[in-house]
Amino acid sequence: MTETNTVRPLRGTVARLVELYEGKLPVLDLFGTEGAALYDNMSRNDRSEVPEFLRVGGPAPKQVLELACGNGRTTLPLLEAGYEVVGLDSSPDMLGRLADRLKEPEWAQYAGKLKTVEGDMTSFSLDRRFDLVVLGTSTVWMLDAEGRASLFKSVHEHLRDGGKFLLTLLHFTAIDESGTAFERATNFIGQGTTAPALCTLYDYVDPTERLRTMSILAHQVEDGRVTGSAVHTTMTNLITPTELAAEIERSGLTFVAEHEVHREQLAKQDPGGRHWVLLEATR
Ligand SMILES: C[S@@+](CC[C@H](N)C(=O)[O-])C[C@H]1O[C@@H](n2cnc3c(N)ncnc32)[C@H](O)[C@@H]1O
Repeated sequence: MTETNTVRPLRGTVARLVELYEGKLPVLDLFGTEGAALYDNMSRNDRSEVPEFLRVGGPAPKQVLELACGNGRTTLPLLEAGYEVVGLDSSPDMLGRLADRLKEPEWAQYAGKLKTVEGDMTSFSLDRRFDLVVLGTSTVWMLDAEGRASLFKSVHEHLRDGGKFLLTLLHFTAIDESGTAFERATNFIGQGTTAPALCTLYDYVDPTERLRTMSILAHQVEDGRVTGSAVHTTMTNLITPTELAAEIERSGLTFVAEHEVHREQLAKQDPGGRHWVLLEATR
């Protein structure tokens, strides 16, 4: 287990827990081995962005590059819709979850329509062009300004003329840069790599610091008792859709529209006026 490199300090409940445990609570990468298993448990049946990808992306057949495809949460429904997909991700553990899912009876029939690549979305060369490039789940927030410029350049190089780049991200209408931080906690029981775990997902947003962290506190349970605890975390930079649209334009792509995404599991009274948007750009 490798400790995660958190470039920025932890915040919210998780920061207090690390203090409480006096440094004995491991803080790991959310997309490492154990975190990938727990993320997969939590997210695998969430198809929220898929109808919007299909509506804006257009009818199959399409050659699609999904960046940061991870465990295939959206990749598998895109295959089911008839798209041919190349999925790229930097985490071998997340790609391993996707490979496992492709062996499940529900998905095995699509294995021939998917190619996966372990790589960095800010710098890759696949030597071909696609009809669509998609990037979901606010993953663009994992990059800094330099990384995003590099990402958009790579997307430009991999889209055919008239091809579309579709990017989804969270947006908070009710917060501004001087707003106070808020946190939402959700409990679930996840299956880790060796044992089940009692999990709490802490979703922390600080508008002033332009920071969002997603952390799963997992208590592994074996033989009726907790045998280990760890935090699996990822830190991201809050960037607004308007800022991203401007960056996309600067990259040479043409920004087309911002679409609303309907994600059923999000309550309307979510803090900060949380909702999802899909940014559409073209080459
Ligand atoms: C929030 S998960 C999204 C996974 C999946 N697309 C989904 O919607 O559930 C973020 C993914 O981004 C991947 N990732 C982070 N930085 C990356 C990079 N620079 N290049 C490629 N993948 C990256 C992580 O490994 C992880 O699988």
